[in-house]
Amino acid sequence: MLNFASLALSAPALLMPPVSAECDVDLELQPPLRSLTPASGIKYGCAGGGPTVQHDRVLLDKFATEANIFVPEGALKWAFTEPQPGQFDFSEADSIADFAARHEMLIHGHTLVWYATIPEWVSQLTTAKDATAALERHITTEVQRYRGKIWAWDVVNEPIEPKDHLENGYRNSVWLRCLGINYVDLAFRLARAADPATPLSLNEYGIEYATAECQRKREATLGLLQKLRDLKTPIDCFGLQSHLQAENTFDHRGLTEFIRSVVKLGYRVMITELDVNDWKIPGTVEERDVTVARHAAEYLDIVFSVARPMSIATWGLSDRYTWMRMYFKRTDGSPLRPLPLDLNYRRKRMWSALAGAMAA
Ligand code: G3I
Repeated sequence: MLNFASLALSAPALLMPPVSAECDVDLELQPPLRSLTPASGIKYGCAGGGPTVQHDRVLLDKFATEANIFVPEGALKWAFTEPQPGQFDFSEADSIADFAARHEMLIHGHTLVWYATIPEWVSQLTTAKDATAALERHITTEVQRYRGKIWAWDVVNEPIEPKDHLENGYRNSVWLRCLGINYVDLAFRLARAADPATPLSLNEYGIEYATAECQRKREATLGLLQKLRDLKTPIDCFGLQSHLQAENTFDHRGLTEFIRSVVKLGYRVMITELDVNDWKIPGTVEERDVTVARHAAEYLDIVFSVARPMSIATWGLSDRYTWMRMYFKRTDGSPLRPLPLDLNYRRKRMWSALAGAMAA
């Protein structure tokens, strides 16, 4: 079995730079992650805002240099694209599409059906008829608009939440309340009808660790994936979000068996939102970067031991912009370092972990 953790950490030019983590000359000389795609068959993507909301040109340049997939972090979510029934606003998403086309990138379509970031009128739907009509119009309009530009669609995002205590671990959402779990099948059929060629994915988080919570999430997710296979739902892949916590311990066996079961059911896998939270990791910046990179490498090792993902996307690119800042604060007050590039857009050891996995 390939071992990216040891591979990455034993490669002196990659993971053991002698200088400070903020300034690593050797890493800057390596070819970008997207250049590894032709040999590896794995695309690299990162999430962020489009040029209409993200005015940091250095960051956007780095996106174009490193990635061949652009993941709109918010622009394709329902609250932004259809704020009022039937009134669509694709301004940010279109700016991303233009940017992506100019830089030969595809877009990862995130996301069509989610319980969150929906407009008020959607959260107030109460009947199966109205929910079906809303799904039909929304999915058809959005998917048709970007046909040919999308790498894959996250058709349904995060349908599982055992903590909601509903049957089979399904998440409580407006969709489940109006339509029951059949909303998932319906959403995929609508997406497939609107674009027969693009891979369609179900995306989920929280399945990596040796905890009862992750165990329940894995079981419920597999249960749903099995049910969708039985229904012949047109779903092609499973997205492992991969929001990792550096202080946690992976459940090697549980995670391996989970991915193996997913593959056995006929789904391909993608890593869709990788980042490594270091809010609880003590030590210097360098030590934290090593821990983060090791954690990412160990995770990639486990995934690759079962299946080569179609793509790896990180949820952001530079530590300067990470959603985690909204929710997690270090007690020493220093900024989180969950992403491949540091606050000054310099490649970190986590970047090497990704390069190591993609190059192997
Ligand atoms: O833009 C406004 C700003 O004007 C305002 O001052 C500020 C005050 O709260 O809010 C800003 O909007 C926030 C937006 O992110 C941009 O930063 C929203 O409140 C906040 O809810 C929104 O959070 C996003 C979240 O999804 C909900 O849509 C995060 O950026 C985004 O990273 C996160 O992404 C999710 C994936 O879609 C699904 N998987 C988990 C992942 C991380 O939570």
